[in-house]
Amino acid sequence: MSVLILAIESSCDDTSAAVVRDGVVLSNCVASQEAHRLYGGVVPEVASRAHQVHLIPVVDQALKEAVIEKTALSAIAFTRGPGLMGSLMVGVSFAKAMGLALHIPLIDVNHMRAHILAHFAEDPKPEFPFLSLTVSGGHTQLVVVRDFFEMTIIGQTIDDAAGEAFDKTGKLLGLDYPAGPLIDQLAQNGQPKFPFPEPKIEGLDFSFSGLKTSILYFLRKQIKAQPDFIQENLADICASVQHRIITILLNKLEQAVAQTGIKRVALAGGVSANSALRDGLKERALANQWEAFVPKFAYCTDNAAMVGVTAYYKYLIGQFAAQDVAPSPRLSMTL
Ligand SMILES: Nc1ncnc2c1ncn2[C@@H]1O[C@H](COP(=O)(O)OP(=O)(O)OP(=O)(O)O)[C@@H](O)[C@H]1O
Ligand SMILES: [Mg+2]
Repeated sequence: MSVLILAIESSCDDTSAAVVRDGVVLSNCVASQEAHRLYGGVVPEVASRAHQVHLIPVVDQALKEAVIEKTALSAIAFTRGPGLMGSLMVGVSFAKAMGLALHIPLIDVNHMRAHILAHFAEDPKPEFPFLSLTVSGGHTQLVVVRDFFEMTIIGQTIDDAAGEAFDKTGKLLGLDYPAGPLIDQLAQNGQPKFPFPEPKIEGLDFSFSGLKTSILYFLRKQIKAQPDFIQENLADICASVQHRIITILLNKLEQAVAQTGIKRVALAGGVSANSALRDGLKERALANQWEAFVPKFAYCTDNAAMVGVTAYYKYLIGQFAAQDVAPSPRLSMTL
C-alpha cells in the first residue's frame, strides 16, 4: 500500500501544503505573504495571522490538485522548527488537530534538514555522502550529509545569513523586501566592477556583516560626490554585491571539499534560487570534477514538498511525533 503524506510548512512567511505519495510530490501549493513588503522585513505577528487565513485554503488546494481525499492520508507532517514561534504554532496546531480527527500519525520535520532533503523530490537524487551548501534567509551552513538522518554542520555563519546579506543590501539600495530575487534580476544587466572585500574568516565559517558595513560606507562616500550614484549605477552595484556574496560561498565550499574529500555537492535554501550562484557552482563543478546538484526553483525557497519528502523517509523507519509535540523555534540541525 502506498504512503500518502499531507505536509504543512509555516515556519516563516510562506504558508505551504503538499501531498507526497511514496516520496513523490503530487502537489505543492504556496501562499506567500505580501504584507511584509510594507515593513521591509517579516513582522512575526503579521506572519502568524496570515498563516491562520491561508492555511485551510492552501491545504484544500493541495488535496484537490493531488486528487486525494483526506481520508486516504497515511500521516500528517509539519515543520516543527527552526522558525518563528507564532508561525510554527499555526502549522503545528493545525497538523495535530487534523491528525487527531483522522486518527493518523504525526511526523515532525526539521526545516533545515528539509531544505537539504528537497533534493530527494526529483531525479537525479544525490548519493550519500554529499556536501550541502545551505543558504537561506536565516542560515548559511556547510553540512556533511551522510544519510537522511545523519547530518553534521562543518561550517556556518558567525553573524548574518547569505539571504540576509542580499536583503539588507537591498534595503540600503531602496529595494523592496525580499531583495534577493531583485538583486539577482538587476545584476543581469550589470558588471561586478566595484570591489567589495572578502572577509578573512578562519576555517569553514562565514561572515557577512563586514560586507554589509563596507557596502554602506562605499555608498555613503559615492553619494556625497554624486547624489544619484545608486540610481545611475544600480545594476553594477547589484552585480558587484552578488559577485562578492557568491565568491565567499563558493570559496568556502571549495575549501570544504578539500577538507572532507567529498566531491558530491548540493545547494539548498532560498538563496540557491540565485542564478549566478547556480551558474558559479556548475562552473566550479566542471573545473574541479565535482558532481553538483542544484534544486528546482520551486524547492529552493520555503515549500511543503520538502517537508513531505523528509517525512516520507521518517515514516519508513517509524519515526512519529507524540500528540503533545510543541513547536521548537530554535530546533537544532542535529535533532
Ligand atoms: N534569486 C535569489 N537570489 C538571491 N537571494 C534569493 C533569491 N531568491 C530568494 N532569495 C533569498 O532567499 C531568502 C529566503 O529563503 P528561505 O525562504 O529559504 O529563507 P527562510 O525560510 O526565511 O530562512 P530559513 O530557511 O533559514 O529559516 C531571502 O533572504 C531571499 O532574499
Ligand atoms: Mg527556509
